[in-house]
Amino acid sequence: MKKIFTLLISSAIAISALGQSTDEKMDTFIKQLMNKMTLEEKIGQLNLQGGWYDPNGKVDPQYAEKVKTGQIGGSFNIPNPEKNAKLIQDLAKQTRLKIPVLIGGDVVQGYKTIFPIPLAETMSWDLKGMEKSTAITANEASSQGISWTFAPMIDISRDPRWGRVSEGVGEDPYLGSLVAAARVKGFQGNDYLKSQNMMACMKHFAMYGAPEAGKDYTGLDMSKRLMYEVYLKPYKAAVEAGVGSIMSSFNDVQGVPASGNKWLLTDLLRNDWGFKGLLISDYTSIAEMKHHGVVATDADAAALSMNAGMDMDMISEYFLKNLKKLVQSGKVSEADINRATYNVLAAKYKLGLFENPYRYINEKRAAKDIMSPAHLQHALEMAQRSIVLLKNSNQTLPLKSQGTIALIGPFARTENVQNIGATNAARPLNIYEALTEQLKGKATILYAKGANISENDLLMSRIYQKKDARSAEELKNEAINTAKQADVIIAVMGEFAGMTGEAASMSDIQMQENQRDLLKELRKLNKPIVLVLKSGRPMVIDWENDNLDAILATWYLGTKEADAIVNVLLGKFNPSGKTTITFPRSIGQIPIYYAHANSSRPEIEGDKYTSKYLDISSEPLYPFGYGLSYTSFEYSPVTLSANTLTNSGKITASVTVKNTGNYDGDEVVQLYIQDVVGSIKRPVKELKGFEKISLKAGASQIVNFMITEDMLRFYNNQLELKSEPGLFKVYIGTNSSVKEAAEFELK
Ligand code: BGC
Repeated sequence: MKKIFTLLISSAIAISALGQSTDEKMDTFIKQLMNKMTLEEKIGQLNLQGGWYDPNGKVDPQYAEKVKTGQIGGSFNIPNPEKNAKLIQDLAKQTRLKIPVLIGGDVVQGYKTIFPIPLAETMSWDLKGMEKSTAITANEASSQGISWTFAPMIDISRDPRWGRVSEGVGEDPYLGSLVAAARVKGFQGNDYLKSQNMMACMKHFAMYGAPEAGKDYTGLDMSKRLMYEVYLKPYKAAVEAGVGSIMSSFNDVQGVPASGNKWLLTDLLRNDWGFKGLLISDYTSIAEMKHHGVVATDADAAALSMNAGMDMDMISEYFLKNLKKLVQSGKVSEADINRATYNVLAAKYKLGLFENPYRYINEKRAAKDIMSPAHLQHALEMAQRSIVLLKNSNQTLPLKSQGTIALIGPFARTENVQNIGATNAARPLNIYEALTEQLKGKATILYAKGANISENDLLMSRIYQKKDARSAEELKNEAINTAKQADVIIAVMGEFAGMTGEAASMSDIQMQENQRDLLKELRKLNKPIVLVLKSGRPMVIDWENDNLDAILATWYLGTKEADAIVNVLLGKFNPSGKTTITFPRSIGQIPIYYAHANSSRPEIEGDKYTSKYLDISSEPLYPFGYGLSYTSFEYSPVTLSANTLTNSGKITASVTVKNTGNYDGDEVVQLYIQDVVGSIKRPVKELKGFEKISLKAGASQIVNFMITEDMLRFYNNQLELKSEPGLFKVYIGTNSSVKEAAEFELK
């Protein structure tokens, strides 16, 4: 058999000498290989299996048997990949055609150097920085046997109850699309063959971020226009950036589960968007089509998915167990099996696995690069840039490096990081350790836990957390006594990392009652209180906003989290993060997002019959794009280079931004446009550009944005992307609530 393989390779090389392009070479190679394959061998390629779970890290005999008999085309999340990737490829060599196995993983936030959760990183608005984080992630993982990552997750979400907002790109399609492309580029580089890169897999296709009531795995019903206008945009951007693979989502799209949805997987993705890569299901999502109630049997599920255009079945084994019979009975065509097999083999070819199945196992490179000082430095920088200063009254922050500081809260002295898929991470410092180290000899740091994560027993059991042996009262009293001795209180509170992520939806995203009670007691001491908010979602912190002195949204920031937070607290880094998802002031406002449509009765105070809630303001607590700095910025009015725009013309919109405070600082200058009258309702404003600038204290800078007709296009009800002549408003400001606009007309 070795002979056939060598023959195949050498014939491919020979043909290449005749001047074939890389694609043609690949095509020839794969077609020749497929000519040798039996139907069973092809079906085996379509099976994507998890790692084996032998607690000793040994090969589970059943799993080994499957690899050896060619029943596994790809594996993922294998334990100790640095050793086991080699074992798997060794087993694959025992198959008749010696086809290597794809080895993937949820390498989402980093491999060993862990970066901020993806949502947090978007708060930096630093596309180059995000690209670099994913490039570092690819570099580390690809030296340890993993050449395929199940990332980036680029689901738009406008419902913070959904636990997976933490993994996504926030609420905005424009920013989300740029982030999607940046991350794909970072993972894959220009060519993932050039080692140190890996194949990306964008997920979850599609609309997974819009589950009804924010509850994971529930359905949704959405117009195609809204899909095109908002939710599909980042996925399309990832395809345009050349993403190598795509994962379907658990949810249905207009009644048909994504994993069996021909419109989605073939008509849109393959035919309209021209996606040529590998398409995989999510974990058992093919089997789950029975739970959706659209198929009754395993075989029907396999047929529906294969006929819709799916290539690989993750975990269900429905392809493995049913496709042969389905082909024999004519319910699935051999052409479809060939299409799927081709896509799997093409991914292996592009990754260079046929040439060398061990090419992603590189201990030398691993030893040099993994957690290298340069990687850790970038992790620190991204962690700092992801922090958002939400409130800072009376210049409470930065802290003075003196006196007595009380660190209070369930997350002040414990590790509370979310490492999505990154099981290999080293334990990072906690905030207590980092603050104590940085203020050694200068200030006294006291600590008290003060409260459990929650007193809600159901919640605590579902996040597998135990309460402290001391009573809630004892914890609280200890914290109050500790705080009494301090000049300033730093409350490290919010959500435990396990309260966000997959299957971690929350109906109530306020502070847990016991934590808020503790804050109320601390407030009575009349000392400045800084809330270091830990969460993977925007929480409802209206009381905290009204009653505390300063608030920092610090998310879960990865390996360098504690240093980053302490650097911001002490003013060694001036915060510049801006929210990429709206903070509601009340749970009842959800879904809430800045680019909402006009109301037929815009809110007027004093006029009852206008659009509002009786009990609260309609404004969010912190709008999209919001974030403070230790310095302040002043914006001039917007000026336009012209008041009319033609289809081939352009207008330059400009503002002067001045740093009017005492610190050097970074500012994300944001451009929003409103299409005032459309043939269908248009959002009140939409982000169309931004620039992150650095300004020394006292300095100013002119920021220009170019506006062209293509930026004004939108999907109409016929799903045509077109602009319409008429009046447009241009807003440039520090966040999406900017009010002053300039106007122009599109002719
Ligand atoms: C998640 C995916 C993930 C997959 C494999 C699923 O439950 O939805 O995001 O890539 O598991 O671990």
